[in-house]
Amino acid sequence: MDAQHTAPVPPPGCPAHNSGGRVPLHGPGFAADPQAYYAYMRHYGPTAPVELAPGVEATLVTDYSTALQLLQDSGSFRKDARRWRDLDEGRISPDNPAVPVLAYRPNCMFSDGPEHLRLRQAVTDSMARVDARKLSHSTAQVSNYLISQFGSRGSADLLADYAKQLPLFVFNELFGCPADIGDRVLFGATGMFDGVNAERAIEVLFGAVGELVALKRARPGDDVTSWLMQHQAKLTDEEMVHQLALLLVAGNEPLRNLIGNTLHRLLTHDAYAHKGGLIDEAIDDTLWENPPMQNLAAHYPAADMEFAGQKLRAGDLVLVSFAAANTGPALTAARQAGSNRAHLAWSAGPHACPSKEPARQITVTAIENLLNRLPDVELAVPEDSLVWRPGPFNRGLATLPVRFTAVGPRPGTAAAPQTEAPGPSETGGRRERSGMWSQFLTWLTK
Ligand code: HEM
Repeated sequence: MDAQHTAPVPPPGCPAHNSGGRVPLHGPGFAADPQAYYAYMRHYGPTAPVELAPGVEATLVTDYSTALQLLQDSGSFRKDARRWRDLDEGRISPDNPAVPVLAYRPNCMFSDGPEHLRLRQAVTDSMARVDARKLSHSTAQVSNYLISQFGSRGSADLLADYAKQLPLFVFNELFGCPADIGDRVLFGATGMFDGVNAERAIEVLFGAVGELVALKRARPGDDVTSWLMQHQAKLTDEEMVHQLALLLVAGNEPLRNLIGNTLHRLLTHDAYAHKGGLIDEAIDDTLWENPPMQNLAAHYPAADMEFAGQKLRAGDLVLVSFAAANTGPALTAARQAGSNRAHLAWSAGPHACPSKEPARQITVTAIENLLNRLPDVELAVPEDSLVWRPGPFNRGLATLPVRFTAVGPRPGTAAAPQTEAPGPSETGGRRERSGMWSQFLTWLTK
């Protein structure tokens, strides 16, 4: 505890005093005002005791330089979640909501040392082959398609109708998905992220990705799937499926929230109006102050140790708060003086996001195209009525209702038909052509 400060006062509604001093990051109070919680947690010093979900205890690093120290010390702090003692020893139930995010899977995010290097290099090298111009072009096509679905209404929910869908369509394109497989990837990924019939959705998703891998082994194309399998890392079919699923999972949710949080910023801060380069600036400000992944980088000490004045035991769960580290008082001056990109929104060290550039490019194009097509877009509800989704890891709005002057289809194209994802009974290979990806491919050829 920092002796210079008076006793910490929990933010309104924070039941920290009732939960053994652990600050809960899973309730509506945290979702409504995470920065009040971070301000409170700074009173504990560079780390704070938190609860991620009922019964899931962790140490959260809230200080910027302490975060860097942890992220860059892969000898002392490991990513392999099979070291997580509380889960291993049965103190956390496998159906706890924090488990799907944190539990081990055989991909680069959960591996260490040479295995991490091998798996990550395959991702980095394959993503580096993505042609920037093509990526912008396909993002703009997806953007136009989505706008064609709601443009004539003059109103939309920019989360459900736009930010949530766009990254998945772009991934389908990057992966080289044909119509039938792409429909099931979209259906499965959407269901998985929405948590609606999630088990069935995950089954459909993994089935479709498995088929994609088999297809590209037989007929490679000019796409990330084929580049991953041609990589010298020589990924097995099982590793291929897990790497592709990781790209979808690690890419989709933060991309959706980067687009959503930046749009929110642009629509609620007059300061950006009439400024050249406003989108880039709004993205940077969002990455600093409202990063899409607010708390993650789960690590486990390899041995009992002392860290930042705290005793940690081997296998304790330690996370980094990118959002708190970015907004610490010590950093505000550094930010004003120095680089506008020194934030931790992409994490740092060997596990930092390997897809910053494509992610940023997708975000810029998605927002630029939207603002060009709907120049008078504005919030349709009072700002303070907007609701943020609960949860300790991601930071994103539940909805972003807007209104604008209705627009017709982009010149030279037809309006897109209203579509729905195929239901579970329609995903067995019979009716995929009515799915979201097929509809998009049909629209493209009109
Ligand atoms: C094209 C979209 C994206 C893809 C394909 C992608 C992919 C990945 C992958 C594969 C990792 C694991 C790297 C490793 O463990 O070595 C990762 C980590 C990470 N990414 Fe991304 N990402 C994308 C977009 C984003 C966005 C928009 C953000 C937020 C600004 C973000 C923030 C992060 C962070 C903070 C980590 C570290 C997570 C941790 O250590 O637990 N990513 N990303």
